[in-house]
Amino acid sequence: MKVTVVGAGAVGASCAEYIAMKNFAAEVVLLDIKEGYAEGKAMDLMQTASLNGFDTKITGSTSDYSKTAGSDIAVITSGIPRKPGMTREELIGINAGIVKTVATSLIEHSPNVTIIVVSNPMDTMTYLVHKATGLPKNRIIGMGGALDSARFKYRLAQALEAPISDVDGMVIGGHSDKGMVPLIGHATRNSVKVSEFLSEDKMNWVVEETKVGGATLTGLLGTSAWYAPGAAVSGLVQAIACDQKKMFPCSSLLEGEYGLEDICIGVPVILGKNGIEKIVEIELSDAEKAKMQESAAGVKKTNGLLEF
Ligand SMILES: NC(=O)c1ccc[n+]([C@@H]2O[C@H](COP(=O)([O-])OP(=O)(O)OC[C@H]3O[C@@H](n4cnc5c(N)ncnc54)[C@H](O)[C@@H]3O)[C@@H](O)[C@H]2O)c1
Repeated sequence: MKVTVVGAGAVGASCAEYIAMKNFAAEVVLLDIKEGYAEGKAMDLMQTASLNGFDTKITGSTSDYSKTAGSDIAVITSGIPRKPGMTREELIGINAGIVKTVATSLIEHSPNVTIIVVSNPMDTMTYLVHKATGLPKNRIIGMGGALDSARFKYRLAQALEAPISDVDGMVIGGHSDKGMVPLIGHATRNSVKVSEFLSEDKMNWVVEETKVGGATLTGLLGTSAWYAPGAAVSGLVQAIACDQKKMFPCSSLLEGEYGLEDICIGVPVILGKNGIEKIVEIELSDAEKAKMQESAAGVKKTNGLLEF
């Protein structure tokens, strides 16, 4: 199992570290455009191997895609992150060009690769990879919902004053402050709906804090977060690499599911060795359906800014 991570910055390096720590991949290649940067991060990470007990080989490359040849999975984190006060959508001008070039270069050297898109605005970047490459739709996956769901569970656990392992919940929709649809009506504590424990006000607090989860961290850190994003990506990579058939909300190309067409947006999917093996259509309330439509309209508006 060979995994390439393009962009050796905050999210890419964190993702490579979690993949290595989970010890399921033979090799991780980090690639960055900044001279020596990926090599340095790879060497530093390899020097944690004996300390952390993993055997995954991590190597670095400055823009040399021949080093990525034969990758089974590739993660695209290259591009700029947002600064405080910015929306993810504002990154499109710079990131679209980067993501398109990176995806094409990856496929040239690894025709059987499955691509996980992380760069923002993620749903639009995932759609761009579909349009710019001939990869089948099951092999292009956008990561956003796995992270947003982890942030949702964090806030649910806080509101419930419960351990996170007691809590389950999922966020679908677009990966943006306005577009996220945290499914509070489906969230549970040990299979009991959270509405049994939380007031309307508390549930609204959980939903609102989840939606601005990324912006809150950007305000605190001065740039976007990396630990939870890296961990979320590593979860998707592991599900594919180990054929786990796990369900995550991921940005997927929809062809009628959820009443949506020609769009990549977060919906529950089953991930296994073939990438997206199934799009799961769950029953949504009328309010949730309306939020999903509104979210899709926002993503389509951003997609409209793409130039092919
Ligand atoms: N989808 C999500 O849930 C999620 C979460 C966090 C961050 N992000 C996004 O991920 C991206 C990366 O964030 P970060 O914090 O790691 O940023 P970062 O600046 O720390 O790292 C980005 C790296 O990409 C490299 N790069 C730029 N152009 C490149 C190219 N053409 N080829 C190869 N490498 C190139 C840069 O040199 C840099 O090292 C941003 O767009 C950010 O918004 C998405």
